[in-house]
Amino acid sequence: MTRDLRMRWLTPALALLIAVGLSACSSFAPNTIFGAHSEFGHSVDVLTRRLLYAGLVVFVLIETLLVVILVRYRERDGNREAKQFHGNSTLEIGWTLIPAVILAFIAVPTIKTIFKTQAKATPGALQVEVIGHQWWWEFRYPQYGIITANELYLPVGRTANFALTTKDVLHSFWVPKLNGKRDLISNHTNYIWFTPDSAYAWNGFCAEYCGTSHANMRFKVFTVPPSEFDAWVAHQKTNAIGSALPAPAIAKADTGKAAQPPAPAAVAPTPVMNVSDTMSATFPRANLPEWVIPKTPTPAHLAFDQSVTGNVTRGATLFKTAPCIACHSVRGVPTAAGIIGPNLTHVGSRTTIAGGLYPNDLRHLQLWIKNAPEMKPGSLMPLFGKNEKGATPGVYTDQQIADLAAYLSSLK
Ligand code: CUA
Repeated sequence: MTRDLRMRWLTPALALLIAVGLSACSSFAPNTIFGAHSEFGHSVDVLTRRLLYAGLVVFVLIETLLVVILVRYRERDGNREAKQFHGNSTLEIGWTLIPAVILAFIAVPTIKTIFKTQAKATPGALQVEVIGHQWWWEFRYPQYGIITANELYLPVGRTANFALTTKDVLHSFWVPKLNGKRDLISNHTNYIWFTPDSAYAWNGFCAEYCGTSHANMRFKVFTVPPSEFDAWVAHQKTNAIGSALPAPAIAKADTGKAAQPPAPAAVAPTPVMNVSDTMSATFPRANLPEWVIPKTPTPAHLAFDQSVTGNVTRGATLFKTAPCIACHSVRGVPTAAGIIGPNLTHVGSRTTIAGGLYPNDLRHLQLWIKNAPEMKPGSLMPLFGKNEKGATPGVYTDQQIADLAAYLSSLK
C-alpha cells in the first residue's frame, strides 16, 4: 500500500472511530444500569465498574507490551534467526501466577455480590408476586389483596421482595435503573429484592426472548413516598366502578413493618421529583418523564371512525355480556372474572395499555379493542372490529367499541 493510499483510508477511519466514541457521550440514558437507584442496583453497578476498570488496566498493559515487543524485535538485518531455547521456569510460573491473582481479584467481589444479592429479603419487606404472561406482566400484592398489570407501585425506602413465576414460557424481570435481571422459570419460583432510594418513574422490560412480542413485553415502575403508596393501595382495594379517588391523607393501610429509612444516596445525581404535592392515588400523568411514555406507531391501515363518541353507560352494559369477561376481571362486576388477560379493575388509571406498548388514551384503546393482533403481533386478545380481517371474525361496530373504550377508561 502506498503512503497516499494509506492516508486516504486513515482519515475516514479515524473520523468514524471518533464519531462512534462520541455517540456514547449522551447524558440521556434512562435505561442504563449505571447510577442505579436501589442498593441491589448499586452493588451490581459497583462490581461492573470495578471489573471494567481493572480489565481496562490489564488491556492497556498487555497491548502496550505487545506493541513494544513487535516494534523492538521486528526483523531488521536480513533473516537472522532468533535465539532458540527450550523451557523457562520463571516465565512459566509468572504466566500461571499472574492470571490466578487476576482471577482472584475478579472472583472475590463477584462472589460477595452474588451472596449479598441472593440472600433472603429482610423481614417486613413488601411482597410482590410477578407473573409473566406472553406478553404482559401480572403483579399481585398478597399482603393487600391487590392484582394489577404492567404497572408497579413501590414505596421508597421499603424493600420490595418479588416472587417470580411464569404462566407459560421463560421471561426475565428487569428494571435497569433499579435492579439486576432475574428469570421467570416454569414450575419454579425465583426471588429478587431491592429497595428503591428515590421517587420517580422507571422503565421495565422482559429480558429473555419469549416469542413474537418479546420486545413488546414492557412495564412501568412508580416509586413513590410511603404515604402515597398507602393512598394507592387504598384506592386499588376499592371497586373501580363509581369509586371516588381517596383524599391524599388516607387512613393508614396495613403496611406490615414500619418503612425503613431511605438508603443513603451513594450513586449518581438523582432525578428525584417531589410527587407529594400532586399525587392522589396514582402517579400524576403531567409529571411522567418523557421516557416512560411509549411512542409506538399504530398500524397505518387500521382506521377508526372519529365521528363516534363513546358512552360510558352503554359501554358498561355491553361489557357485562361481551366476550371480554371470558378473559378479564373487573372487581365489582360479578360476570367479569376471567383470569387469562390482565385484571382491568383500575385500567383507566394506568398510563399504558397492551403490555406497556401504547399510551393509555381513548384513541389507542379503541384501536386496541378493534384489532389487537394488528396492534401487537401475536397478541392472544382477538380482534373485535366488524369487517376486520383476522383469525376470528369481529362483531362490534366502531360505535360499540367506542362505548367499551369509554367504559374502560372510566375505570379509574
Ligand atoms: Cu417475556 Cu421476553
